[in-house]
Amino acid sequence: MSETPKKLHIKTYGCQMNVYDSERMAEAMGAKGYELTDDPAQADMVLLNTCHIREKAAEKVYSDLGRLKPFKDAKPDLKIGVAGCVAQAEGEEIRRRMPLVDLVVGSQNYHRLPDMVQAVERGEKPVDTEFPLEDKFDHLPSRPQAARPTAFLTVQEGCDKFCAFCVVPYTRGAEISRPGGKVLTEAQKLVDKGVREITLLGQNVNGYHGEGPDGDWGLARLVRELAKIDGLERIRYTTSHPNDMDDALIAAHAEERKLMPYLHLPVQSGSDRILKAMNRKHTAEDYLRLIEKIRAARPDMMLSGDFIVGFPGETDQDFADTMELIRAVNYGAAFSFKYSPRPGTPAADRKDVVPAEVADARLQELQALVTLQQRSAQEGMVGREVGVLFEKPGRLEGQWVGKSDYLQAVHVRGEGLRPGILARVRITGTAPNSLAGELVADF
Ligand code: 5AD
Ligand code: SF4
Repeated sequence: MSETPKKLHIKTYGCQMNVYDSERMAEAMGAKGYELTDDPAQADMVLLNTCHIREKAAEKVYSDLGRLKPFKDAKPDLKIGVAGCVAQAEGEEIRRRMPLVDLVVGSQNYHRLPDMVQAVERGEKPVDTEFPLEDKFDHLPSRPQAARPTAFLTVQEGCDKFCAFCVVPYTRGAEISRPGGKVLTEAQKLVDKGVREITLLGQNVNGYHGEGPDGDWGLARLVRELAKIDGLERIRYTTSHPNDMDDALIAAHAEERKLMPYLHLPVQSGSDRILKAMNRKHTAEDYLRLIEKIRAARPDMMLSGDFIVGFPGETDQDFADTMELIRAVNYGAAFSFKYSPRPGTPAADRKDVVPAEVADARLQELQALVTLQQRSAQEGMVGREVGVLFEKPGRLEGQWVGKSDYLQAVHVRGEGLRPGILARVRITGTAPNSLAGELVADF
C-alpha cells in the first residue's frame, strides 16, 4: 500500500524569479512525495519563498509567520521553512525572531531542500545560506509537466551593478549565467510539454553571458538560438539594465519575429544628480537616446519601467525631471515605489532623508501620470490587430483570456479556443486592466 502523499503549501513573494524558484522547489519536493496544496491548513509543510527588496516585503514575511502559529499549535509536526531573499539576507536571525521556523534555505541552495527536510524530520533545525560551488539547477529535477502555455526560465542570477539602494547584489550574489546549451535543453523540454512562450529571467538578464558551444553567448545570441525551436512562438526577457542593452540585442528586436515588442527597462529616476547618487552609471539623456534607438529598430515597442521616489536628497526639481522623463518616454506600464532604506546598502546610511509625506505625494503624482499613459496605450490598441496567446477560460460563457504581444490581457469569444492557441485578434474595446477583441481568422 502506498503512503498518502504529504502536502506542501508554498507562498511566493516578490519577483518572477521567485515564482520560477518556487516551481523548481515544488518539483524537488514532488520527487520526495510531496503534493502541492493551496490551503495551508491542509499542509504538512509550509514554505515561504520570500522577498527582501523593500522593508514592507520583508516585514510581511514575519507577520505571515506569526499567522502560521495557530496551524503549528494545532499540528505540531507541521514543518515551516523560509526560502528566498529574506532567508539569504537574515539567515539564523529568522529563527531567533521566529522559533517556529524549522528550516531556512538561501536562494542558491534549493537543491538541498529535500535533505534539509529530512534533517528536520530527525529533529534538526537546518539553516543553509552558503553560496555553493555547484549549480543548483544541475541538482534539481528536470522540468516535468507544464500545464500552461507560458513558462519562466531563469538564465541568469545575481547582479554586479550595486545600485546604491538595492539589496540584490547581496541577496542573490554576483552575476552568474547558465550555459547556453543547458538553457536550450530546458526550453526544448518545456516546448515538448506544450509551452509556446518563454520568459527568460535574470536580475540583470540582458547582462547574460553564458558559455555556448562556440564561445561566449550574449542574450541576443541566446534569443536567436531559442527562436530556432519549432513550436516555441514567443520569447520575452526581464529585467534589463539600460547599460547592457547592446546593439546585438536591439538588432534581435528588429529581426527576430518571436521576440516580443515589450521591454521592461527600469531607469529609476529622471534626474542626473539622483541617477549618479544611485550609482546607475548612466544619465537621463543616455536612457532617452537608448529608447530612441530601440524604437527605431522596433517602432511598435511598448516600454515599461521601474521608478523610485524619495531617494535620499531628491528635491522637487529632481522629481520634476523624473516626471519629464516619463512624459518623454510614454510608458505602456510602470512600477513605482517609495524609497525604502535597506540594511547594508550604501544609500541606507544617508541622512538627507525625504520626509514620508513628500515621498507619498510624489508617488501619487507619478502614479497618476503613469496610469494616464497606460490607459492611453490601452485605448490606442482599439482597431489594431495583435497576436494573442490564449491561457485560460474567462469568467463569461465561451470567453477566453490570453496575452497580447504587448503583454496585455485580452478577452475573446470564439469556438474551439483553448490554452496554447496563438491567434490574430482585432482589438474592439478596453476595460481598465484588459482589452476585448475578436478573432480575425481561423487559427
Ligand atoms: N526601495 C524602493 N524600491 C526599490 N527597488 C529596489 N530597491 C528598492 C528600495 N530600496 C525597486 C527598483 C527595482 C524594483 C525591482 O524595485 O525600482 O527596479
Ligand atoms: Fe538592484 Fe537592478 Fe541595480 Fe542590480 S541593476 S543593483 S538588481 S536595481
